[in-house]
Amino acid sequence: MPRFSIAAMKSRKAKPKIYVRKARSSDREAVFKFCEKTWSWGDYIPRVWDRWLKAKNGRALVATINGLPIGICQLGIDKPYEVWLRGARTDPDYRRIGVATAITKKCLEYAKRKGAKVARLVTESDNLAAQAVLQKLGFKPIAEFVEMVTENITEEKSRNSRWVEKNETEATWKFLHTSETHRKAAGLYTILFHWFSLEKQDLKRFVKRQKAILHENEKGEVNGLTLIDETTVREWRENTVQTCYIDGGYDATLDMIKFLKNHCWGLGVKKIYGFTCNRKPITRALEELGFKPTDSTEIVYEKRI
Ligand SMILES: CC(C)(COP(=O)(O)OP(=O)(O)OC[C@H]1O[C@@H](n2cnc3c(N)ncnc32)[C@H](O)[C@@H]1OP(=O)(O)O)[C@@H](O)C(=O)NCCC(=O)NCCS
Repeated sequence: MPRFSIAAMKSRKAKPKIYVRKARSSDREAVFKFCEKTWSWGDYIPRVWDRWLKAKNGRALVATINGLPIGICQLGIDKPYEVWLRGARTDPDYRRIGVATAITKKCLEYAKRKGAKVARLVTESDNLAAQAVLQKLGFKPIAEFVEMVTENITEEKSRNSRWVEKNETEATWKFLHTSETHRKAAGLYTILFHWFSLEKQDLKRFVKRQKAILHENEKGEVNGLTLIDETTVREWRENTVQTCYIDGGYDATLDMIKFLKNHCWGLGVKKIYGFTCNRKPITRALEELGFKPTDSTEIVYEKRI
């Protein structure tokens, strides 16, 4: 049973005052309680709560009504000018009275004070409530991504794919800037479900760690790039790898993913998460190699602040 009548709360007279403040560890119990049934499988908030509260490069905010925590959101400062919002949750008994709107506005104020120029977040294509809130707050959808998965890790032969060498970073960077996929992806790459702007320093980091695969054409020019990461090993305690960014035509993608599969097969990796911008030549190549898509897509929203 709702602790207040939503109809009464929505009427102007009874509309309760919503306060937004920094989250405290004492909010834990109330927050975990209203997050219990966010999704059919529960929620990931209890897993990240302590880390969010301690984060030096971010802030978790809580909305309260009459002192009771009824909503949360976390903001992470990824780069001096870009922030990432996540974990927007409103207690089901307090929805549609402006809680998420109030917290998001405070997050944006905080981000602006910290010098950020852009705020981004992701929501699933079937999350109409979140999309409605975002639209009302002036966020715009900028790119669509899919998550595809395979556990079919086989030995493969690739022809024109290899790890990017340090001295090829410039040519790879140039390729990205002529690429339609890079434009469609809004210049973003992902680690887990968190998207970042792909800058030269990021590419250099992937190259240095041997996490960047290139594909070259018959003329020896770069015409494909795949970036990978293994944060899933630590975060999800799985022997898995994810693609953070895939760029190239059907043939280039097919060859790079064969190279990746072969690499994973050699290491005994059990699963590959294929995150990619939603582009047909890329998703067709992944499907050809046994990757299965999830039901919904991921839409990244952005707001200039
Ligand atoms: C999405 C969510 C955070 C919205 O929280 P909320 O506090 O109810 O949102 P608000 O009251 O600020 O909504 C503001 C406006 O967004 C729109 N909106 C919000 N929920 C909506 C819904 N279910 N259907 C249609 N429009 C909706 C409305 O225009 C609403 O204004 P109105 O009520 O005056 O018409 C909440 O539904 C929730 O916790 N969902 C589960 C977790 C989730 O999906 N999080 C987002 C992940 S990206």
